[in-house]
Amino acid sequence: MQITIALTKGRILQETLPLLAAAGLEPLENISKSRKLIFPTNRQGVRLLILRGVDVPTYVQHGAADMGVAGKDTLLEQPGDNVYEPLDLEIARCRLMTAGIKGAELPRGRIKVATKFVQSAKRYYAAQGRQADIIKLYGAMELAPLMELADEIVDIVDTGNTLKANGLEARDTIAQISSRLIVNKASMKMKYQPINALIEKLSAAVNKQ
Ligand code: PRP
Repeated sequence: MQITIALTKGRILQETLPLLAAAGLEPLENISKSRKLIFPTNRQGVRLLILRGVDVPTYVQHGAADMGVAGKDTLLEQPGDNVYEPLDLEIARCRLMTAGIKGAELPRGRIKVATKFVQSAKRYYAAQGRQADIIKLYGAMELAPLMELADEIVDIVDTGNTLKANGLEARDTIAQISSRLIVNKASMKMKYQPINALIEKLSAAVNKQ
């Protein structure tokens, strides 16, 4: 039986590989040093896919991958009805926050908010009872308030160094973020034994880390 696990390069991969190793699963070559996108593992029938982070939920939602590891920030943007989220891997922790120019007050009435996290931003400002025009950006959100494109941004904050370096301040926390294991619902049913065994091993590895 084939099991396909979708991962993404970068911090999530670096922190997921030790958990997979503790669960007895290791890629047969160094993923970081390869341009390949599919990697066999030491367990026959189990392979790893390397995708863009935002594409991991899409592959799992459609069953093109059985399981995946994705940041909660990504999952909040695209909640899939075909996907379970059985395990918080407690890695790649950060916060999804609002931020703006240090000391600057928000204008009254409608505000402009620049972000990559459109759905989370919409929900947050609606819950605050604030009228917000959301402007979608794909990166370098910190520039938007400086260039008067937006009054506030919604972005990931880890150390806070990026905000600080650009004269911005973190304001409200919208969500605590970490990476989650996600599983396609049909896969969970059809491949229950191996998938459940892997979840249990990963869960034990998370508790030990
Ligand atoms: C994130 C985020 C900030 C930065 C925050 O970007 O967009 O720019 O990290 O980290 P800090 O609080 O420790 O400075 P990331 O490097 O993940 O790249 P991205 O822009 O592609 O999301």
